[in-house]
Amino acid sequence: MNIQENISLKNYNTFGIDVKARFFVEITGLVQLQKVLELKAYPKKFIISGGSNMLLTKDIDALVVHINLKGITVVEENENFVEVKAMAGENWHELVMWSLEQGYGGLENLSLIPGNVGTAPIQNIGAYGVELKDVFVSCAAMDVKTGELEGFDNEACEFGYRESIFKNEAKDKYIITSVVLKLTKKDHVLHTGYGSIENELKNKGIVHPTIRDISDAVIAIRRSKLPDPKEIGNSGSFFKNPVISQKAFDRFIKKHPNAPFYEMDDNEFKIPAGWLVEQCGFKGKRFGDAGVHDKQALVLVNHGTATGKEILDLSKKIQDEVQKTFKIKIQPEVNIIK
Ligand code: EPU
Repeated sequence: MNIQENISLKNYNTFGIDVKARFFVEITGLVQLQKVLELKAYPKKFIISGGSNMLLTKDIDALVVHINLKGITVVEENENFVEVKAMAGENWHELVMWSLEQGYGGLENLSLIPGNVGTAPIQNIGAYGVELKDVFVSCAAMDVKTGELEGFDNEACEFGYRESIFKNEAKDKYIITSVVLKLTKKDHVLHTGYGSIENELKNKGIVHPTIRDISDAVIAIRRSKLPDPKEIGNSGSFFKNPVISQKAFDRFIKKHPNAPFYEMDDNEFKIPAGWLVEQCGFKGKRFGDAGVHDKQALVLVNHGTATGKEILDLSKKIQDEVQKTFKIKIQPEVNIIK
């Protein structure tokens, strides 16, 4: 087992924050992971996978365990469906591309989401009308105390909007090692309802889209709005879209009749945080190397050498301004490591 010391994590988090891991180990097998968890010499462990949903604000004084488990296999199939098991260290978008090459449907709307398979269930990744939970069968997760593998089915994961049990009761207790997804082999269920997908397909003159057409449309939309972490450090949406009550909504919409919103079940309303942030004048603004993306105000960016603290300070400034202007609390979607 190769335990390295004082390793920069810059290439292990999509924000590109240059903090150091006191110790670092790369995991490519389940038995190896069990052995690492047993190491008494390193009592503090910190798990990192794709690093796409975290803001690191200081050096990590622990053994950083990088989950690099690989493999994609079909575990069950019939005429209509296939169940695919993907190991946690597989890149999410590469899995989506692989599924499309096989002709499997279900993941096309989730194209180009940064990060790895193992982190997808933690925040129930979602985009353009589809969430992971729509195709999710189960995941295997290793108990960090016992090293035993446990299964979590869809219900056990308690999925919600950018939420799961792994962000709540099970936080820091498990390491997700693999995920099983149920995909369609034919009669694919297409989700084209999201406004910008419809427009993109229309502009291309596509009337009967294939799963590949939808993926291409999603990729084009994402590329036009969201920065590529390889070029500008970022973690996708930094904030969740706030959900407010009917009463709060009535007050809000009276004052801001042109604001976009989505009506949800239970008389609740989701307001796009990107709109709120833009209205407060932050879109495209830059404070040193910490900034707000110029095409999507929900995304905070690292223009080069921003520290995690600088990004965090900017996020707090934005939260305060949104609170002052709209009386609405916006909360980070990104996991902030303090
Ligand atoms: N808007 C603005 N200004 C902005 C950004 C957005 O006015 O700077 C307005 C848009 O005009 C639109 C509304 O806000 O009316 C919604 O914008 P968009 O369609 O871009 O979606 P979003 O709600 O901002 C969510 C997800 C994204 C996901 C898109 C598409 C969250 C926190 N974010 O963004 O997810 O790609 O929908 O489904 O739910 C991510 O989680 O990292 C992520 C990128």
